[in-house]
Amino acid sequence: MGKTLVAYFSAGGTTARAAREVAQATGADLYEIAPKQRYTAADLDWRDASSRSSVEMNDAGCRPAIEGVVGNMGDYDTVFVGFPIWWYVEPRIVDTFLESYDFAGKTLIPFATSGGSGIARAEKSLAEHCPAAIWRPGRLLNGGGAAAWAKGLQQVK
Ligand SMILES: Cc1cc2nc3c(=O)[nH]c(=O)nc-3n(C[C@H](O)[C@H](O)[C@H](O)COP(=O)(O)O)c2cc1C
Repeated sequence: MGKTLVAYFSAGGTTARAAREVAQATGADLYEIAPKQRYTAADLDWRDASSRSSVEMNDAGCRPAIEGVVGNMGDYDTVFVGFPIWWYVEPRIVDTFLESYDFAGKTLIPFATSGGSGIARAEKSLAEHCPAAIWRPGRLLNGGGAAAWAKGLQQVK
């Protein structure tokens, strides 16, 4: 797989757990896509149409700012991209991440956690936001199995 990075966004910690498992299983570096402004519980209330997450997800052009950068992105051949499903797709801050680096020719592998929604719509959206990357099929990691999945990918390559 070459040098691998696991980049993830997690508002509540569930995706962070999966990301740590993937990184450990593959010997990859771990990078948190950390919002400049952290999400509060009120920000995450999807029942409130005026909450920060609702406002962001209603605006396809919204790009929440990220704290910090990956200084050595050029070193990585493979980047896992992990996130919670928000409104059936990736949170807008993941689009910020994808548009912040040159992923041309790199292999990107998405994974997500959710309350039950699948990852298919997010996979389509990710590829639209970063068409230069080589996207591999993603994985919903709700039931665990992160380490086994990630190890299996290494054997294929
Ligand atoms: C704003 C918001 C929108 C969400 N939208 C969905 C959704 O469309 N489908 C779904 O199954 N779960 C949805 N969820 C649930 C999260 O995907 C799920 O709880 C996820 O595991 C959270 O990961 P985290 O702890 O890493 O943030 C949503 C959660 C939030 C906060």
